[in-house]
Parts: sequence; structure tokens; C-alpha cells
Amino acid sequence: MSVPFTAYTSVPREPLAGTTVIDTGNYAPQRDGRIEALDDGATTSSELFQRHLGASAHVVKAFDNIHHTHLAVLTRPAGAEDRTALPLAGDDAGAKRHAAELLDALGYDTVDAGPSRRAGCSPRAHPRTAPPARSCPPTRSAPWPPAPPRPGSSPGRQAASAAGIRALLAKA
Ligand SMILES: NC(=O)c1ccc[n+]([C@@H]2O[C@H](COP(=O)([O-])OP(=O)(O)OC[C@H]3O[C@@H](n4cnc5c(N)ncnc54)[C@H](OP(=O)(O)O)[C@@H]3O)[C@@H](O)[C@H]2O)c1
Repeated sequence: MSVPFTAYTSVPREPLAGTTVIDTGNYAPQRDGRIEALDDGATTSSELFQRHLGASAHVVKAFDNIHHTHLAVLTRPAGAEDRTALPLAGDDAGAKRHAAELLDALGYDTVDAGPSRRAGCSPRAHPRTAPPARSCPPTRSAPWPPAPPRPGSSPGRQAASAAGIRALLAKA
């Protein structure tokens, strides 16, 4: 599910019942407008989306910390020394396993970033934009979207290891 945060209530519930829903979304006040419950850390965008979908769908936050232009260049086969790890946040262990299998097939390791309550605390996968410049929660100063790579630069050539992502998550 990859729509601007403010569109989450228009995502239909029925087709997603009984599925794992990967949510890439970020709440960015400068783009989405201010939402008090997110600003003060009372909830997270992932929890709101889960509430909208209902209990039979299982939301897993993933890909929220990596720019789409980096996804294609950071993919690596399993076991590669420079394979990047991406965090997964969600409340259902089975859904997180499904998401991890998908990410593995796409060329990424994964790190468990905790429950949906912690979604949005993910360090940016690309070292240039990691770690998040904020405490988490609240989400007040989320630095999103990151600046796009300059033409001619080599975006996303440096991997973010699972150990590195774990260390950044521990600080977030
Ligand atoms: N872009 C990235 O690299 C990236 C990386 C990580 C996380 N994210 C996060 O992922 C989310 C989506 O980002 P994006 O860059 O993919 O956004 P986007 O290109 O602006 O929108 C993605 C899709 O959302 C649909 N959409 C827009 N407004 C809608 C509405 N009111 N109701 C239903 N569908 C709507 C659009 O469909 P139509 O074309 O059919 O209108 C569009 O194809 C954001 O929260 C963003 O912060 C993005």
C-alpha cells in the first residue's frame, strides 16, 4: 500500500481482509498537514491504517525508509556481503514473516523493528539520510521526503547492514 498518508481512509477493506498489507507510508506534516495524534506520539500512521483495515488484515510497515530510486541499486542476492537490511514493523509475527520472505526474494535482509507502535522510527537505509533526526515517537520533525539524488551522483551504492540498522533502531 503506497499512497499519500492522507489517502489511507480510502483504501478498501474487503479485498485486503485476511492478507498481509505492506505499508510504505510516511506521515510528513509539511506534505500531509498536521495530525495532532501523530505529532504528540499518541499513535502512529501504521496503527491508524491497521485500525482502518480491521483485525483480519495485518499491516507491516516496510520500505518506508528507502527512496524508490535506491531500491533497484541496493538489491543483492542472499548472503552477499553488501546486502542491505530494511526494518519491518508490525503487530503480527506471521505477517512479518511473509513480508520478510518477500523482501528476501527482492534482494533485502530484514530487521524486526518492533510493533506498529514503533513504525515510523526506522532509520533511513541510505547512510546519507540516516539516522532519523528525531526522537521516536513523536514524529514531529520527520525529515521526509529526503532530497532526491543529484543527477550524475551514485545514489544508494553503500549498503546498510542489519547490524547497522539495529544499532540505529536502538537509538531511535
Ligand atoms: N517515493 C518514495 O521513494 C517513497 C519511499 C518511502 C516511502 N514513501 C511513502 O510512501 C507513500 C506513497 O509515496 P509515493 O511517492 O508513492 O506517492 P505518490 O506517487 O504521490 O502516490 C502514489 C499513488 O497514490 C495514489 N493516490 C494519490 N492520492 C490518492 C488518493 N487521494 N486516494 C487514493 N489513491 C491516491 C496515486 O494513484 P493515481 O496515480 O492512480 O492517482 C499514486 O499512484 C508516502 O507516504 C511516501 O512518504 C515513498
